[in-house]
Amino acid sequence: MKAIFLSSEKKDIVFTERPKPMPKAGEALVKVAAAALNHRDQWIRVALYPGMTYDCILGSDACGTVEAVGSPQDEAWIGKEVVINPNQNWGDHPEYQSERYTILGMPSDGTLAEYVCVPVDRLHPKPAHLNHEEAAALPLAGLTAYRAVRRKGGVQKGHRVLVTGIGGGVAQFACQFALALGAEVYVTSGSDAKIEKMKSLGVAGGVNYKQEGWHKALLKMSGGFDVIIDSAGGDGFNLLLKTMKPAATLVFYGATLGSPSKPDMPRIFFGQYTIKGTTMGNDEEFKEMLQFVEQHGIHPIIDSVRPLAEGIAAFNDMRDGKIFGKVVLKP
Ligand SMILES: NC(=O)c1ccc[n+]([C@@H]2O[C@H](COP(=O)([O-])OP(=O)(O)OC[C@H]3O[C@@H](n4cnc5c(N)ncnc54)[C@H](OP(=O)(O)O)[C@@H]3O)[C@@H](O)[C@H]2O)c1
Repeated sequence: MKAIFLSSEKKDIVFTERPKPMPKAGEALVKVAAAALNHRDQWIRVALYPGMTYDCILGSDACGTVEAVGSPQDEAWIGKEVVINPNQNWGDHPEYQSERYTILGMPSDGTLAEYVCVPVDRLHPKPAHLNHEEAAALPLAGLTAYRAVRRKGGVQKGHRVLVTGIGGGVAQFACQFALALGAEVYVTSGSDAKIEKMKSLGVAGGVNYKQEGWHKALLKMSGGFDVIIDSAGGDGFNLLLKTMKPAATLVFYGATLGSPSKPDMPRIFFGQYTIKGTTMGNDEEFKEMLQFVEQHGIHPIIDSVRPLAEGIAAFNDMRDGKIFGKVVLKP
């Protein structure tokens, strides 16, 4: 089968032939209809991800049809259209993942292939209102955004919420989820066009983070935020603090720009702020996220649907920030 493989020899991804996997006991073989990229895949490609290993197929997200199972008691899954929960071994505690936790697609073989094998308990019926491409776009980014907005952010109707870097996959889900909860949502982006697109989807306003004094413009526009959902980090962190209402919450799930060089500690304690880190989400939250998306009729924003054979160019576009929404690959 064809796959996007992280090669130890090339120290890069290659589009190549790999053996078709066989499901072991308790596993299902899924024929991939559509798979989606996440920034995680690009971090792994350039060896900037914890626990790096090589010689595996990348990809955490997929929608497909179960073709075979490894145990007779799981045969009811055969022929079902599914999405895959990319969590592996979250563990028993809802608040944090176990030490054995990994994500599908490094170290284990992932979804950017014609077939993938996963434990049967990772399968969920495809949300009925989504097509294959939309369903494939959902798992990793949807789960991260769901936990960030609900468990960590506690976003409620009437909250003023800022989501930064709205071109990002997780950011767009966070925005859609906050809007569905009845929040007034603002965004930042390096692109005015992306801000305008989000306004057409119900966002109240936005500011280009490349503009001098962007945080002041945001504060003036919104009057301050109850909740901020950020993944950029870097020195913009201190500027975000200046846009928070007293006792507001900042949730971050990434640090694309690295750590802030001089965090403004006094502003955090004088402001009574809560700063929370979050990563992915537990298995219960995955189920809740699928239900939430169905209940609110949410459709993921898709940048493009491309052949798997053009996957490396798609990685490059994601690396260069040339995308708006999820990039979906079809084997
Ligand atoms: N912890 C987790 O569970 C988890 C899960 C998923 C992702 N992440 C991390 O979260 C980050 C985003 O992931 P993703 O998959 O959503 O990435 P993505 O789709 O590639 O988006 C990255 C976005 O970062 C934004 N950005 C770049 N510079 C920025 C700045 N100075 N200020 C604000 N935003 C800026 C850009 O937004 P514009 O295009 O609008 O300028 C870009 O679209 C990555 O660091 C990723 O590793 C963490």
